[in-house]
Amino acid sequence: MIRVRSLAKDYADNAVLKGIDLDIGAGEFVVVLGQSGAGKSTLLRCMNRLAQADSGELQIAGIDAMGAGQQRELRRQVAMIFQHHNVVPRLSVLKNVLTGRLGSVSTLASLLQLFSRSDVALAMNCLEQVDLQHKACARTDSLSGGQMQRVGIARALAQRPKVILADEPVASLDPKTARRVMQYLRDATRELGITVVCNLHQVDLAREFGDRIVGLAHGRLVFDSQRETLDEACLQRIYPQAERPSDANQAPVAVPCMQIGGGIA
Ligand SMILES: Nc1ncnc2c1ncn2[C@@H]1O[C@H](COP(=O)(O)OP(=O)(O)OP(=O)(O)O)[C@@H](O)[C@H]1O
Ligand SMILES: [Mg+2]
Repeated sequence: MIRVRSLAKDYADNAVLKGIDLDIGAGEFVVVLGQSGAGKSTLLRCMNRLAQADSGELQIAGIDAMGAGQQRELRRQVAMIFQHHNVVPRLSVLKNVLTGRLGSVSTLASLLQLFSRSDVALAMNCLEQVDLQHKACARTDSLSGGQMQRVGIARALAQRPKVILADEPVASLDPKTARRVMQYLRDATRELGITVVCNLHQVDLAREFGDRIVGLAHGRLVFDSQRETLDEACLQRIYPQAERPSDANQAPVAVPCMQIGGGIA
């Protein structure tokens, strides 16, 4: 589903990705670990073409993600979930989830925000998958952080993507809520056969939810194996000369909701 070869990305004189090789099969749930600045977000951003890699090969869901003119198809097949649940606070929960369908409707329907009955039924189904169907008509800013993150998951599911890229989806949540949100993400994507690449800072969550764990350090892949093989020596490679993150330093951080996409009223 995802094929990465010799992927490299510099920001000015900062070599952020230094030749990444990675193969991810359909339906796999892969967790990416690495200390801050290792290049985790840059890798995900290159996969979704939010950032342009400098060289290498990148195939996602049969799409050449390095090629020009592939953005629209990539946006359809690849959904993103961010740390700060970038939902639109003043919209209803259902409308936020429906924005996941915007890439699949015509430009006019998208501009007018006209959604078919089947899109609404699909959005409700996605809300059921994260146990939020009862909140469909609530304003999104009346929800808790964990619930908002579940709205973000439902929106990604509503896109019916082949791949979900999740960049620290639970970093701003308390440990118990974080685990619950990860469970929703894993169960729903497993049910739908969606491939997931998820950046995390919490090693315990990586061990619990990742079928496979990939470790990045200074822009290089230093670990790539099933979760059972992630021992202390491997963690030393992933977190060189660094304090390993633990639940203790994953305390919730208050962050304002970010608005997404222009033109959504
Ligand atoms: N848009 C950008 N412009 C310039 N430098 C950038 C940009 N985005 C990332 N970088 C740099 O690339 C390096 C890797 O950043 P990245 O965000 O990928 O790390 P990360 O592993 O996701 O870290 P964190 O765990 O803190 O989110 C850092 O040195 C960062 O400063
Ligand atoms: Mg990051």
